[in-house]
Order: sequence, then structure tokens, then C-alpha cells
Amino acid sequence: MTEAAREAAALDLTHRPRRLRGSAAIRDLVRETQLSPADFIYPLFVCPGEGVRREVPSMPGVCQLSVDEAVAEATAAAADGIRGVLLFGLPAAKDEVGSAADDDAAPVQAAVRAIKRATPEMLVATDVCLCEYTSHGHCGIIEGETIVNDSTVERLASVAVSHARAGADVVAPSDMMDGRVGAIRAALDATEHGSRYADVAIMAYAAKYCSAFYGPFRDAAESAPAFGDRRTHQMDPANAEEALREVALDIEEGADIVMVKPAIHYLDVVARVKAEFNHPLAAYHVSGEYAMLKAAARNGWIDEARAMLETLTAIRRAGADIVITYYARDAARALA
Ligand code: PBG
Repeated sequence: MTEAAREAAALDLTHRPRRLRGSAAIRDLVRETQLSPADFIYPLFVCPGEGVRREVPSMPGVCQLSVDEAVAEATAAAADGIRGVLLFGLPAAKDEVGSAADDDAAPVQAAVRAIKRATPEMLVATDVCLCEYTSHGHCGIIEGETIVNDSTVERLASVAVSHARAGADVVAPSDMMDGRVGAIRAALDATEHGSRYADVAIMAYAAKYCSAFYGPFRDAAESAPAFGDRRTHQMDPANAEEALREVALDIEEGADIVMVKPAIHYLDVVARVKAEFNHPLAAYHVSGEYAMLKAAARNGWIDEARAMLETLTAIRRAGADIVITYYARDAARALA
């Protein structure tokens, strides 16, 4: 640095951004993004049986839970300040068409009823898809190696109604079939045995990418496809414009909340969707994203608590109103 440069720099007393970073109080005052347990949805995996709490090896801290344990977990989460859960089901039996998915006695439906009974104020959302329920692990009805869109949509609508009948507040179709949001809305709004589920909201996995980061989830939900992959329905990671078209369609079809998934590698999509539509927006911090942080933390390579909060803050900063995260309870406790 020359003398002149030093002088010029020293003279700039006007612009000192560090003034707003000097104390916790001033940092709190100027913070742009707030993170609160009220922003989180906590996913739970519900399995048959009683007293079952089986940790998923690739997702430390996440367990397959029988209905009684799911109620215990939801109740504990409520005590931590969590206001919403998202249920995934592991059926007792699988078949070609995923018959257990719309069985009113299946684990998810039973868990919805039990959680609403134990903690009525807890918002209960359910994942609507067939992959956990089909013997082949695909998200729909297959003919040969093709996932058939329209017959799958019919099944999905029936699954959503079954979840609504159990008392779900929100149904969340994650299958990426075309037209399923409209079909589910119509099915929920149709009068069935004198009841109608017009108040049940739809949180659509609108821009769901074909991602390597779902690997651990497929261990948890035992839903890996037996052959092939999900590229014919989930989105190409290279596309963002297409995400905007997908979101537009889902909103048009009646999605109350739209979702981008995964989160961290798609924050540009989160930001663009929020800017373009200003619609309630969720982002799913998925199993692989969670597992990476866990693995690095277990090796002592990162400070897990800080990395967790930084990650969840980034998702909110990008524009997500709602963060679906396996870290929900840990983060709520860290924020308390
Ligand atoms: C079901 C579904 C998946 C996830 C949520 N719903 C898996 C998939 O599409 O293969 C992934 C969630 C996660 O990785 O945490 N279709």
C-alpha cells in the first residue's frame, strides 16, 4: 500500500459496515432472516407394530416409528416448539398397485388419527406417493417399465382422500405425475358419504428434482425402485425454467403451498419461485443433505450445530417460508 492509498482508506470513516456487526444486540437488530421453530415441518416414518423405534443407519437420529412411538415423537416435538409433522408410511405388505396406500387401517392413517388425538394443535401433513407401497418401488402404476400417468393419478387421489378421512390437515403429493394436484383437489372437494374435505390443504412437491440426495430416505422408507430410476417423472437437475412452469401448473391446479426439493443445491430455484409467484413456499432439506452434515460432524470435520443453523437459515434467506427438515427438533432446541 502506498502512503496515499493508506491515507485515502483511513479517511473513509463514513462507510464502515462493521459498525452493524460489533455486538450481538446490533446483529440481532439488523438481521434480515429469522429462523423459528414455527417455520419447520418435521418428517416422521411410520411403520407397523408397537414400541418400534428403529434408527435408520444412513440417517443418524432418524427412526422408523410404530404409531405409538410416532405419537411420542410428535408430542416431544410439540414440546420443542414444532408445529407440523409430515408422515411417510411403511406398509405391512406391498403389491403392484400399492394397495396399502389408501388402506384406512395402514400405519400413516392410524398415525394421523393418533397424533391428532394426542396433540390436536399439531398440524399433520401426509406424503402422498405410491413408491413406499409398491412391490417394485415405483411412484405409480407400471405397465412394462413405464409409469402410467393417468391411472397413477387416480390412485393418488384415492390415497389423498384416505389421508383426509383419517384427519390430515395437509396432503403432500410427491410423485410428480402430471395433473395430480387438480385431481386430488377435485377428489377432496367431492362429497363422499356426506363428507367433504374442502379444508384440507395441498402442499405440492411442485419442483421435485431427480436427485442423488434421496438415497438415505429410500433406506428409511424402503422405497428404492427395483429397476430403473425416477428420471421419467422427477425433474432434470439442470433445469430451472421448467421448475417455474411446474410451479405455475400446480398453483393453477389448486396447490395451496408449493415446494422445491431438494433445498441446498436448488436455492436458486427457491429464490426464483418466490420472486416469480410470491406463493407460500416450502423447501425440503432432504435425507442426503442431512446425512452429509451428520457424517462430517461425526468425523469432527464441522461444527454440527452451527452448520445446521447456517443451512436452515440459507433456505429461509433464499425465500422458503417453510423448511421441511429432519433437524427440526434439534434446531428448535438450539434456537430456544
Ligand atoms: C416419495 C418421496 C421421496 C422423498 C420424499 N417423498 C423419495 C423419492 O422420490 O425417491 C425424499 C425425501 C428425502 O430424501 O428426505 N416419492
